[in-house]
Amino acid sequence: MAKNILVVNGPNLNLLGTREPDRYGSVTLPAIEKLLDESARRAGATLACFQSNSESEIVERIQRAAPEAVDFILINPAAYTHTSVAIRDALAAVRIPFIEIHLSNIHAREPFRKRSYLSDLAVGVVSGLGAKGYGLALAYALEYTGKD
Ligand code: DQA
Repeated sequence: MAKNILVVNGPNLNLLGTREPDRYGSVTLPAIEKLLDESARRAGATLACFQSNSESEIVERIQRAAPEAVDFILINPAAYTHTSVAIRDALAAVRIPFIEIHLSNIHAREPFRKRSYLSDLAVGVVSGLGAKGYGLALAYALEYTGKD
């Protein structure tokens, strides 16, 4: 079971709740984080949440995860999904298993959103299930042993 989980959210996800609610839903990021924290606690795990609009801050947060002994990362890289070699390289460097999450179905949108710089490194990708996708990814992370 994963015991020390890091949740990373990228640019503009601090605006969840008011940002294009038809596309991203009306649940705020603090509300999502609270639910995740409660689920993790119930399972006896520790969960830390981080959001930034800055690529460098996200890279630095991922780098810190290794000395913190984080054993699983849930990440919605938002727009950096489609652009960031730096975030890809940070995830490859720390070698911590991760799930890539998107609220919307990135394959049903503009062509530029179909490309992810992270997906081939991810344990899996959850896309298009709205805020519920975070909870589903956490459930998987909590059971993850690396052998399945
Ligand atoms: C997103 C999808 C990205 O294409 C977009 O840039 C986001 C949010 C999602 O959660 O659906 O900011 O990652």
